[in-house]
Amino acid sequence: MREYKSTSPGETEALGEALAAELRPGMVVAFFGEMGSGKTVFTRGLARGLHCEEAVSSPTFALVHEYGGRPPLAHFDMYRISTWDELDSTGFYDYIDQGYVLAVEWSENIENALPEDTVRVEFFKGPGDDERTLQITGATIHEDFGS
Ligand SMILES: Nc1ncnc2c1ncn2[C@@H]1O[C@H](COP(=O)(O)OP(=O)(O)O)[C@@H](O)[C@H]1O
Ligand SMILES: [Mg+2]
Repeated sequence: MREYKSTSPGETEALGEALAAELRPGMVVAFFGEMGSGKTVFTRGLARGLHCEEAVSSPTFALVHEYGGRPPLAHFDMYRISTWDELDSTGFYDYIDQGYVLAVEWSENIENALPEDTVRVEFFKGPGDDERTLQITGATIHEDFGS
């Protein structure tokens, strides 16, 4: 696990962009952390790093958004998912098989279903309004970030 500090949305986005360089097709990036902690902001950076052209927005009602990219990015919101059947119906496993990168908000709800090579990103707010701590396991950002 490595820890990264962010003091602005732009910094969190830059961390996401840098992580994109470490990902392979079919990998899951699982987010953990409360509402407003920066999961969607981070996904915006991932999308930039994967050369996606579509705008990133929270997939709250659709459950999944696709953004294109190389490899293509699929963005999930698992807030209302609580069974294997529900997870399957989001297309989660199909996206993995098709070589997408999967960015998964509310991974708390599908933790037992996450593949072994999942990259975990845990978000913590504070102490300041714009301060966030990100703990990343399963991949290392090879840029001038972190401590
Ligand atoms: N350092 C930071 N990193 C990420 N977001 C931040 C930061 N500081 C303030 N924010 C604000 O926090 C909110 C994060 O929202 P969002 O990414 O949608 O959260 P989540 O998807 O985790 O619910 C945004 O309004 C953003 O402007
Ligand atoms: Mg979100």
